[in-house]
Amino acid sequence: MIGMSNKPAYYGGEPVRESVLGYGSQSITEHEKEAVLEALEGDYITRGPTVDEFEERVAEMVGVEHAVATTSGTTALHLAGDAAGFGSGDEVITTPLTFTSTAHVATYNDATPVFADIDPHRRALDPDAVREQVSEDTVGLVPMHYAGHPADIEGLLDVADDHDLTVIWDACHAFGGTWRDEAIGAQRDMAMFSFHPVKNITTGEGGMVVTDDNELAERLRRLRSFDMEYDPAGHENEPWYQVTEGVGYNYNVTDIQAALGLAQLDRLEEFKRCRDEIIDRYDEAFATIDGIRTPPDPVESDPMYHLYAAEISEAFGCGREEFVNAMHAENIGVQVHYVPLHYHPFFQEEYGYEQGIFPETERVYERLVSLPLHPEMSPSDIGDVIDAVCRLYDFHAE
Ligand SMILES: Cc1ncc(COP(=O)(O)O)c(C=O)c1O
Repeated sequence: MIGMSNKPAYYGGEPVRESVLGYGSQSITEHEKEAVLEALEGDYITRGPTVDEFEERVAEMVGVEHAVATTSGTTALHLAGDAAGFGSGDEVITTPLTFTSTAHVATYNDATPVFADIDPHRRALDPDAVREQVSEDTVGLVPMHYAGHPADIEGLLDVADDHDLTVIWDACHAFGGTWRDEAIGAQRDMAMFSFHPVKNITTGEGGMVVTDDNELAERLRRLRSFDMEYDPAGHENEPWYQVTEGVGYNYNVTDIQAALGLAQLDRLEEFKRCRDEIIDRYDEAFATIDGIRTPPDPVESDPMYHLYAAEISEAFGCGREEFVNAMHAENIGVQVHYVPLHYHPFFQEEYGYEQGIFPETERVYERLVSLPLHPEMSPSDIGDVIDAVCRLYDFHAE
């Protein structure tokens, strides 16, 4: 601690650290740099054999037949919704406690996102709340594994079976985790990941859709690359002849990104170990602090947590707003995941949502705060976070 007194910086003391510690960060070593340089010297710098290799490694790791790399988690969601056939007049049920892109699995495809309340333990879609939202127009279900903790996979698949819904798991937070001894992402019909720098591995920007379904995989690949047929029937002697069969996109990733992704995969176990160690230190330090609910125990799973999302209640001595501002004053970059989607002007104006309609989501949101969690954190960084939280708690306890 750099200050003489233990007064929180928010109340005039010295911050626990001089530089800002972000809540998430990539970890790049010589291993990644060498892999990227090698890719730059290859024949392809757009989508080439290294992308194929990256897809094969992820498919093997997740235990599915197909992995289709895209330019981001957001475009992965767009493609997955399109491949599923979501369209005008269709309703797709998802969680309000997520990043905006999860709902764009519907909006980008002209379907309507329908929110259902969460189970406050997992902080992911509650199957009973989903059942209440199913209508004759419902075609899809898009649960999100909040912070990396798996949603109620079995309960949600039951709802999907009862109503013949296509399920797309937003597993952006959960890459590298397991549920009942299978990888998160292996569950039907499709799952998708993000490789944004704060996520469990990164390719700069990037995403991936995984599936066991051959037809969906074929459709995903076509949509990713202009929806073109490169060997159309009847044109066997015209090797140049390519035909556009629908509205596709250019969501191709580069061999440069794939090389980075492969090098990051080599370090996946190391990343998980780092994240688990930080979580253990936080859990231990906060066990005796009233008013901090540490992240819930995993249910039948070994998650690779993307976030350490705690909940701050009255017993802590101050509310979440003061907690966040006090941590920022200490140069601890906490964040809140997420302002619920039904609070946002777009979803209110377009679909008539309003605050007050999802009590569990709103109660959890009022208390949520994500503390820094990433493999670049040193033991002293972890100590700074703990000191900052403890000094604020002690200040209010006096
Ligand atoms: C739950 C969730 N879904 C989707 C996305 C979108 O991923 P990307 O940033 O790679 O487009 C994110 C990224 O923040 C996310 O956290």
